[in-house]
Amino acid sequence: MATTEVRGLGHSVKRKEDERFIRGKGTYIDDIALPGMLHMELLRSPFAHARVVSIDTSRAEALPGVVAVVTGELMAQHNLAWMPTLSGDTQAVLATDKVRFQGQEVTAVVAESAYVAKDALELIEVDYEPLPAVTNPQQALQQDAPVIRDDKEDQTSNHIYHWEAGDKEATDRAFDEADKVVALDTHYPRCHPAPLECCGCVADVNPATSKATIYMTSQAPHVHRTLFALVTGLPEQNIRIVSPDIGGGFGNKVPIYPGYVVATAASLLLGRPVKWIEDRTGNLISTGFARDYHMHGELAVKDGRIVGLRASLAADEGAFYADAQPSKLRIGLFHIVTGSYDIPTAHVQGDGAYTNKAPGGVAYRCSFRVTEASYLIERLVDVAANELGVDPAEFRVQNFIKPDQFPYESATGFVYDSGDYEKALRLALEKLGYEDLRKEQAEAREQGKLIGIGLASFTEVVGAGHGKEYDIVGLRMFDSAELRVHPTGKAILKLGVKAQGQGHETTFAQIVAEELGIPYEDVEVQEGDTDNTPYGLGTYASRSTPVAGAATAVIARKLRDKARTIAAHLLEAAEDDLEWERGRFSVKGAPDRAKTIQDVAFAAYTDLPEGLEAGLEGVHYYDPPNMTFPFGSYAVVVEVDRGTGQWKVRRVVAVDDCGVRINPMIVEGQIMGGLTEGFGIAAMELITFDEEGNCIGSNFIDYLLPTSWETPPFELGETVTPSPHHPIGAKGVGESATVGSPAAYVNAVVDALAHAGVRNLEMPVTSDKVWQALQEAGLAE
Ligand code: CDP
Repeated sequence: MATTEVRGLGHSVKRKEDERFIRGKGTYIDDIALPGMLHMELLRSPFAHARVVSIDTSRAEALPGVVAVVTGELMAQHNLAWMPTLSGDTQAVLATDKVRFQGQEVTAVVAESAYVAKDALELIEVDYEPLPAVTNPQQALQQDAPVIRDDKEDQTSNHIYHWEAGDKEATDRAFDEADKVVALDTHYPRCHPAPLECCGCVADVNPATSKATIYMTSQAPHVHRTLFALVTGLPEQNIRIVSPDIGGGFGNKVPIYPGYVVATAASLLLGRPVKWIEDRTGNLISTGFARDYHMHGELAVKDGRIVGLRASLAADEGAFYADAQPSKLRIGLFHIVTGSYDIPTAHVQGDGAYTNKAPGGVAYRCSFRVTEASYLIERLVDVAANELGVDPAEFRVQNFIKPDQFPYESATGFVYDSGDYEKALRLALEKLGYEDLRKEQAEAREQGKLIGIGLASFTEVVGAGHGKEYDIVGLRMFDSAELRVHPTGKAILKLGVKAQGQGHETTFAQIVAEELGIPYEDVEVQEGDTDNTPYGLGTYASRSTPVAGAATAVIARKLRDKARTIAAHLLEAAEDDLEWERGRFSVKGAPDRAKTIQDVAFAAYTDLPEGLEAGLEGVHYYDPPNMTFPFGSYAVVVEVDRGTGQWKVRRVVAVDDCGVRINPMIVEGQIMGGLTEGFGIAAMELITFDEEGNCIGSNFIDYLLPTSWETPPFELGETVTPSPHHPIGAKGVGESATVGSPAAYVNAVVDALAHAGVRNLEMPVTSDKVWQALQEAGLAE
């Protein structure tokens, strides 16, 4: 079989799954309709902080079509009023004592139709006693702040945790000896993954068999099955989570939300399937938000080299601490807070606080808050270059970790696997025509026009675990792949991860194609059904390729070893005398004496050597030795209008290095999506709150997402630095551009104004903020 027909690594084959998506034949949660199915709607709190005095459900219960009204009190009778969060905290499923954020789930109505359920919500009378709201961590940590989590024994303040990394003394010394210290205070605002499809589920607990089948929007179905078993007490083998096609997750579909638990409890109690579909406002105000980090960073510079980093952070965690973080490394930001730079000393500390806001802290297209880290260091480096009066590109090059320093241990104790940062930056600068642009910028300034050039040379960390240090609620972060090759040489690959649009059905088939020589079209990839796939931790933090991709390559290689034994038997040759060329074993020196992988697959069921187990299938659980560290350099060119403060992106050049690319077209799609989200975060996305804790950003009129109209064009480039520890040298890429690009956009706008002394603009960089800065800097027209 010719190698090109197999279409393994490096082929931009079209996505298999798109056949059904573009024909409208996908199956999303709301497409599922079961016989006798009921519909559930949630009543949410209008207050950010209030005592629940009483709930009167009688009028709602009397509405024709209403089957049940579920209150926190009813849930408490079944020990389900509270549930654990991913960070080991507790979260109210339905409020019993207090409401702690606007939009919190208070009561649920189950009815014959969603319309009746929604109408019935208006008939529920809740008597609230409003309490003062706390809307930021600074306020939360004041001595006299109202204690939000008075449900927790021993919780006498709103402080949740204090974490530190690095060497304080050595860092202080580096700062004492520095010839320049620069500082930046910034807030990475609360934003939201806002997937196109909101969350939802259909819970179907069969009263005859006690089997609970829960169809849900889950990025981590196996973990959710285990958590359901722990929360509800149902035996785990009786729970089946099915995660069908998902219309975007971006981290938002990692946590378990009250709606899933209430719908399952209602189905259990009523003996009928119950569907709950969240609306957009429900999604934006109550499900996992992202970021909301207040950051202070400082760099110490000596002779043009960065010699120390100090950072302190205050994290706004909302009312229930529900960060998606590995339990031993709570502040994921520590992983790459020193960025792509060889900074010998660092000391970083962070504190988390409860506030009257929705819980979450999901890693929105990001691994454990590394987006905040990347933003901080890339903004700080620009501030330093500005203060020193040096070119930000050359300042970066001078301070990069050099290729021969890998594996590189950062000052916060993490080991970067591989990188060549200068190569990526030089390529980006070349594609951009950096020198000419700087000249154009200087000339434009003389004519009163403002052009800005922003750079970001980010390093990312993706692919959690290894299992020894990375776990979620104790579950070690490995992943798995089960591969079955059928007698006719066609195969099924079953994975513990779960795609939400990333193209796994194509790329993972390509890994099998590469390793076993079976054409990628002949490999079906299945994910998302816990009864049908091996255990895995799920898809988030760009971990699918680094972990499940590695598991796939390893199991395919194991099957290839077995195939060699069978081929040797068929060819009556010694195994060592066989040569492997993708898809074919041949006898050394006699290339015509050969068997294809399809021949061998057939023999695995029909003609085996004595004593060899039949079949060609197996499962591998892969625990990665380390994370992978993709990187890249982004360059953004903007023009700023001196009259209005509006800024327009003229160009975006993005050079990414994610090691070996399985499917270059899919990788480019991932990068373009991330660059768009990065632009949205930098320019317009904001979930904010007034002083009473009212959420401003609860719909797509207030919470702005970039449409194709606003999205700038992207020019992409690549370098390839394989991961030394990944079986096919691949690193993750899904989140790189969301992590790396916001700083590049902001650096560009700041750069346009920098000659007039502007050093910072806060995200989202809206035109009113720029206009204000133009006024203050004397640049306004
Ligand atoms: O975990 P998640 O799928 O979100 O992220 P990822 O592993 O970074 O991959 C996103 C998509 O890009 C997947 O379909 C990958 O297989 C593909 N990819 C690739 O083709 N080559 C790489 N080196 C990395 C990812």
